[in-house]
Amino acid sequence: MPDFALPAYQSRSGSARSKPPTIMPDTSGAVRDQRPHVILKLAVSSDDKIGAAGRKPVAISGEAAKARVHLLRAQCDAILVGIGTVLADDPLLTCRLPGMEPQSPVRVVLDRSLRIPGTSRLVHSARETPLWVMTSNLSEAPAAMKLGAAGAHVIRVATTVTPLPGLDLAAVLHALSERGITRLLVEGGARVASSLSQQAWSTKSGCCAGPMPSEPMASPRWTHCR
Ligand SMILES: NC(=O)c1ccc[n+]([C@@H]2O[C@H](COP(=O)([O-])OP(=O)(O)OC[C@H]3O[C@@H](n4cnc5c(N)ncnc54)[C@H](OP(=O)(O)O)[C@@H]3O)[C@@H](O)[C@H]2O)c1
Repeated sequence: MPDFALPAYQSRSGSARSKPPTIMPDTSGAVRDQRPHVILKLAVSSDDKIGAAGRKPVAISGEAAKARVHLLRAQCDAILVGIGTVLADDPLLTCRLPGMEPQSPVRVVLDRSLRIPGTSRLVHSARETPLWVMTSNLSEAPAAMKLGAAGAHVIRVATTVTPLPGLDLAAVLHALSERGITRLLVEGGARVASSLSQQAWSTKSGCCAGPMPSEPMASPRWTHCR
């Protein structure tokens, strides 16, 4: 059984309530299948790249697409990235539309061996906006305790070796469903997006196309978008 519940959010009047009604798809199937409805978002440059050389943050999409993504964040229960994105971009993954910050989703990181830095913005903000770190049964207990002390929740799930070694995505989604997540926004990076798109169950994918990059783009090409 889950040891914690979805956070309520404060409405402008100050009363705590669950997420507001949205125009998102019907999630009854997600409840039935014990797996959240998954939306995969990737910003893709005109030459099919999703990141810059040297693993530094780079802006691919424009302001309108960014605003749309922040709205999606507010409409979802959780947002998920892999540890590669945390190490490359140090993202915050909150909704930063004016007035909608309290509707930020739970932030979820796939991190088999708990490499997430204690200095990351995600860990620093774990007491304000929930951070769930999904890891393997073998990751070190002291690292998990440090994250717990910083306000993050560590959730252990099974691993798999195919197609690449990683956390078992079916187990990840089941664990999220058990904790009340019905709408999940996946924001990458390349490995997580690829693993997810190779699963048999349906995923709603969305790409934000960007202009020709002004700097070298060396992250893997994105070829699985549908
Ligand atoms: N354009 C966009 O929309 C966008 C969005 C996000 C990121 N990015 C870019 O993408 C790049 C990072 O990509 P990335 O591929 O290194 O990072 P990633 O996909 O965010 O993270 C990959 C890591 O997640 C962990 N993981 C655990 N279980 C997994 C599973 N089942 N499937 C896949 N990964 C699993 C693995 O590390 P462990 O084995 O250690 O657990 C793996 O190396 C950066 O350049 C970033 O800027 C672009």
